[in-house]
Amino acid sequence: MTTYTTDQLMEKDKAHFTHPWTIFDVYKHEGALPIERAEGCYIYDTEGNRYLDAVGGLWCNNIGTGREEMAEAIAEQVRMMSYSSPFVDLTNVPATLLAEKIASIAPGDLNHVFYSCGGSTAIDTAFRLIHYFQNCRGKHDKKHIISRKSSYHGSTYAAMSIGGKAGDHPPEFDYLSDTIHHISAPKFYGDTSGKSEAEFLDELVAELEAKIVELGGEDHVAAFFAEPILGAGGVIIPPQGYHQRTWEICQKYDVLYVSDEVVTAFGRLGHWFASEDEFGIIPDIITSAKGLTSGYQPLGATIYSDKIHDVISEEGHGRCFAHGFTYSGHPVACAAALKNIEIMERENLHGNVSELAPYFQERLESLSDLPIVGDVRGRGFMWCVEFVANKTSFELFPEELDIGKRISNHADAKGLIVRPIVHLNVMSPPLNLKREDIDFIVDTLRESIELTVAELNNEGYTL
Ligand SMILES: Cc1ncc(COP(=O)(O)O)c(C=O)c1O
Repeated sequence: MTTYTTDQLMEKDKAHFTHPWTIFDVYKHEGALPIERAEGCYIYDTEGNRYLDAVGGLWCNNIGTGREEMAEAIAEQVRMMSYSSPFVDLTNVPATLLAEKIASIAPGDLNHVFYSCGGSTAIDTAFRLIHYFQNCRGKHDKKHIISRKSSYHGSTYAAMSIGGKAGDHPPEFDYLSDTIHHISAPKFYGDTSGKSEAEFLDELVAELEAKIVELGGEDHVAAFFAEPILGAGGVIIPPQGYHQRTWEICQKYDVLYVSDEVVTAFGRLGHWFASEDEFGIIPDIITSAKGLTSGYQPLGATIYSDKIHDVISEEGHGRCFAHGFTYSGHPVACAAALKNIEIMERENLHGNVSELAPYFQERLESLSDLPIVGDVRGRGFMWCVEFVANKTSFELFPEELDIGKRISNHADAKGLIVRPIVHLNVMSPPLNLKREDIDFIVDTLRESIELTVAELNNEGYTL
């Protein structure tokens, strides 16, 4: 129970808690809304106001919050053993069983799991594993990494350098740049060149191949990092066939394909993993986190192939994989993940996503009659609405207008949380959402957009 008023909490927060992605100037004045309680797809602030959390926390609340069964599984593991070292020659039962389970649901020969504490560390682990693998093979010059503009891969030094969202690279931070290269994002909406989507796809594939060749070809390029659907970069769904063709290019040049499934795995698109089931490819490495525990515990997993494992663990070299975290394979986090997976299977949450995704799409697309709704895109339970000032020229509103935030502020006031990212509103709700929840989300978004349009017209726009 909170013993402080909301205002007191906000003052304490402002004084001591440095938030991720804080714009200091705004935060100093507005602070952050204290959330106290959560149940299912709802969160409650310290004033008792209820919101439907259509963001699912931060793309992670896949089974819904507040499940008694999860609390029990976590408590039981804490009572049994709250911690045990994973280093060198010790292991623990939940970590072993979870690795086996992940290997059984992962595509192809991805049978090996390295645990970390979240998505960024899963990416960092992939990055270091790639170096290790290439050096073990004697390919010491094979170090270049290619990723895409508008991608997000996390917030550690390496992960942020691999990410390509321009807004995430402010000049006050430094980045690795000598071996990391960004090619175009596969976003067709907003292209004004007049080319077809098929021509756009040909260009993207040619660009990847040209970049590999420019960097010295197969002797120099180590890996390609790609989210199946770019999430934080704006729910960008590549043209049909993109994954298959870029994967083939990677195979042609002996470039490892890293599929960053931190968001898309564990049911978000109606499958355990999207790489194979949705896009038909078997990557060399998959990174995952978020839905792996549905946010009940922090956990990341870097899942990699027999092909890589056979090389790095080859006998007779006396090699040590000198990488790891105190909390790699944390027993409580792994117990939470096992229970989370059991719940997903028992309740057929993937089936719910597959069944309701077309309805979600149809309802969201009904917003297209509004004058500032430019595009509605997504798959499964991963959606976004893109707002434009002009639907024909695709002209965007000035960034300082913060159109996504304006709309989401209205939605907040009506009891709906959507995630504003500049000119977008993004949604990734719990996978057990019902039809009536989808209706509430879309109806509330419509009202919030209409209110914003009225405001903008009062401010001199003619929409
Ligand atoms: C695709 C992707 N990769 C990696 C990350 C980083 O994960 P984490 O915030 O758990 O470190 C995120 C976070 O949103 C993500 O969306």
